[in-house]
Formats: sequence, C-alpha cells, structure tokens
Amino acid sequence: MKSHRNRLYEGKAKILYEGPDPDTLIVHFKDDATAFNAEKKAVIDGKGVLNNRICELIFTKLNEMNIPTHFIKRLNMREQLIHKVEIIPLEVIVRNVAAGSICKQLGLTEGEPLPRSIIEFCYKDDALGDPLVAEEHITAFGWATPGELDDIINMTTRINDFMCGLFSAIGIRLIDFKIEFGRQYDGEVSRVILADEISPDSCRLWDVETNRKLDKDNFRRDLGDLVEAYSEVARRLGILKEENGKPKPSKPVLVKSD
Ligand code: TMP
Ligand code: ASP
Repeated sequence: MKSHRNRLYEGKAKILYEGPDPDTLIVHFKDDATAFNAEKKAVIDGKGVLNNRICELIFTKLNEMNIPTHFIKRLNMREQLIHKVEIIPLEVIVRNVAAGSICKQLGLTEGEPLPRSIIEFCYKDDALGDPLVAEEHITAFGWATPGELDDIINMTTRINDFMCGLFSAIGIRLIDFKIEFGRQYDGEVSRVILADEISPDSCRLWDVETNRKLDKDNFRRDLGDLVEAYSEVARRLGILKEENGKPKPSKPVLVKSD
C-alpha cells in the first residue's frame, strides 16, 4: 500500500483513496466482514481478493451491456480504479426467492419462490438501521428525483435478468442481492450509474442442486467456511483455476488476466 495516497473514506468492507485524476477513485477491498450493522465482525483472510475479482467480472460484463457502472479497471489483487460518483443514499434490493429480512417481515418461509421479482429500497443510514422506505419517501425527501428513480428501476431490472442468467449457467440460484447507485457529474449534468460492488457479500447465492449457501450468510449465520464458498463461486465463474482432480492448494490460486 502506497502511503502517499490520500485515504478519503473507510467503510466496513472497503477503503476509498484518491484516484490519479480528479474524477476517479481507487477502491480497496478489505478482508473485514461485518453483519447486523457491524455488531458481528471478523477478518477473513482472502475475502477481499475474491470479491475484487468477482466484482470485476460482473461490472465488466454490465459495462459491455451498456449498463453504466463506476468500474474502470482492476489495478491489482485488491484494488479497482473507479469513476467518482455522489452516492445516492439507497440500498436497492432485488428479491427473486424469499430469504432474510422479507421472511421475518411477511412471515414467509426461506426458499419460497416469490410471485415475481420484487425491488425494495432501504434508506442508507446506519444510525437508523437502513430502514425500508417507499418510492414516495425517496422522491418526497429528495434522495433521488423521479427521473433518477425510473433509471434506477430500469437498470436494476436489467441487472437482475443478467445476473440470474449468469449464475443459473453455473448452477447457482440468485436468491436476492443489494446494489447501490451514484451520480456521475459532467459539469452541471449528472447521470445515474451502478456503484459500490456486486459480490457474494451483497448477494444470496445457493447451489441449484444442494441449496448450499455460497454467500455471506456463511458468516452471518455461522453456516460454513466463507472463503471456501466464495472460492467455489469464483471457480465456477472461471476466475479460479480448475483443480482437475489434483489435490486442492491450501490457498485459492487466482487465474491471471490482463
Ligand atoms: P436482507 O434479507 O437481510 O434484507 O438482505 C437482502 C440482500 O441484501 C442480501 O442479498 C444481502 C444484502 N445485504 C447487503 O448487501 N448489505 C446489508 O447491509 C444487508 C442488510 C443486506
Ligand atoms: N452491511 C451489514 C453490516 O452492517 C452487513 C450485512 O449483513 O451484509 O454489517
């Protein structure tokens, strides 16, 4: 880590540094894991490297599909160069199958398919515990304009379609996920682009055959080895080397790209 770089912000799982240009930043993926608004914490060796690579693959494909993201390029094992945005204070959640908080709220059984995919919004405020809000709150309080909200919903629907296909092709069911958007400014004009990350930290991913959880619920609910699970996702996505029946290396071996 170069010490001359200016650290702008440290979150629960990532650090933001100034980028080489005024409209870029560098995001660093940490090994830190938190759950329940950081009540539960751990450092999980290798998580940041895996999330960086999985996020790179997904954001690259979204950029190619003309769904604009903040991702420019991966710099190294833990860092990406990204466009600077003003984060819209919303967690946008897509649910395809009932799990997590919707089960508690509505008395649903985990694993129950939903009548259709549902988009939820939470207001990003740790002190309030990121409360669920309606579109009315978002536009009334000015967290996003009606036009921005339309763009967010359209992009979110396309992202869900793409991600369902991507994961289904590798034997994984996309149960739900959380994304965040930001405003990218060009002078006075701004457009909404996908920001933050998409990784097994922010998705629920279940093996199609066995329902094995391949996501952060392993940490939240002490279900199993998180790095093993994320490595399995990376392996199926072609990021981790296939082992061809050879003994497993003690640490994940990432495939070189560039
Ligand atoms: P939930 O069922 O706990 O509301 O979570 C829905 C999805 O959002 C799930 O894929 C996990 C993800 N998520 C985050 O990425 N960050 C969070 O802080 C929370 C609560 C959920
Ligand atoms: N963002 C949550 C936390 O506060 C983690 C989660 O459940 O994903 O710690």
